[in-house]
Amino acid sequence: MFRWTDRRQLELKQAFCDFRNRRNGTTLTPANLCLSAGLDDVIDLVIRCLCRPGHDRIVVCPPVYHMYQTAATINDVATISVPLNPHRNFQLQLSELQQTLSSDRNIKICFICTPGNPTGHAIPIDNIAAILDNPSWRGILVVDEAYIDFSPRSPSAAALIGRYPRLVVLQTLSKAFGLAGIRVGFAIACAHLCAVLNNVRKPYAVGGPSIALARAALAEPSIAVLDAKLQAIFDQRTRLARDLGRIPGIGIKGGLDANFVLFEVLGIAGTASASSEAGGSFNRPCNAAARELVGLLRHSAGILVRFKGLEHGCEGCIRVSVGKGAENKRFVEQVCLLMKRLRLRAAATTTIPAVGPFSSIIGDSVGIFHLGAAA
Ligand SMILES: Cc1ncc(COP(=O)(O)O)c(C=O)c1O
Repeated sequence: MFRWTDRRQLELKQAFCDFRNRRNGTTLTPANLCLSAGLDDVIDLVIRCLCRPGHDRIVVCPPVYHMYQTAATINDVATISVPLNPHRNFQLQLSELQQTLSSDRNIKICFICTPGNPTGHAIPIDNIAAILDNPSWRGILVVDEAYIDFSPRSPSAAALIGRYPRLVVLQTLSKAFGLAGIRVGFAIACAHLCAVLNNVRKPYAVGGPSIALARAALAEPSIAVLDAKLQAIFDQRTRLARDLGRIPGIGIKGGLDANFVLFEVLGIAGTASASSEAGGSFNRPCNAAARELVGLLRHSAGILVRFKGLEHGCEGCIRVSVGKGAENKRFVEQVCLLMKRLRLRAAATTTIPAVGPFSSIIGDSVGIFHLGAAA
């Protein structure tokens, strides 16, 4: 606590390698790691190291974690979007993505998020390898695996590090480990690229208490607790998606590879959400109805969820983190009740204002339903 930390952090790095190698069959060593203050810090670091401001570009595949574009903008780096296909489980449009990468020599980084936030779908590792095998693109592929431990059937791209020197994999202790407050994230790459990142990173970005907590979290007894918690989240996730999907007017939109469920709200006949100004979205995913539900959940039940309706292919969508059994049960009951209330209200009147009473204070910036590991 009273001294500078060891800037190399070999013991923590070795503990993380041991964890990953056991779990994912990788052969990582500390030379493959760059430690930083959470992945947001790593994302900024990678862009600063690899892109020339005002000149280079990154590629993102929306809907996706917003920080890639935010960090790029702050570094005066432009962003090109090649959207995921919302009609095919939010998978990559691989040939369009390859064409985009091949067509512009100034694209220095392509970010892929798997499992995706907010899609909840993992991207097959073959797709990752295919991008790295693209003979006419020489940039760096950054694969964000913040949610990888929620998808045990998905192999980690860290297994490809030995074969591909242009691959960086991002992993964090913020999600499955539930340690978002200590700010510990890793870039995993070949030793050469890691040396570049380590030379540019701030040497003492992660403080001593965080390092001590991270080491404790990676010790054997803690891993047993982690596995028990993950199993509980897997069980609850299946149940939450099943129960939400049974509520009239609600459909499950995303996959179940992360610790959240992305669901869509359909327009309700007679409400503003189904009116012609709102696009006549009765029985179709509808942002006005989703916003109303977000507001009602917040104000009448004290439950925070995240509105995602403005993101590509996510019309009418809300993301909810998987909680504990009793929390999920209450959440489903509340959604059921509030959807009924909206329907009754719609039946009683056909002239509800286009912007509902709560909509003005509900936006994408509200917090999340924070009952399980962080989303
Ligand atoms: C996909 C993804 N990557 C990275 C992060 C940032 O993680 P960290 O807490 O390690 O900065 C998040 C946080 O929500 C995320 O969803």
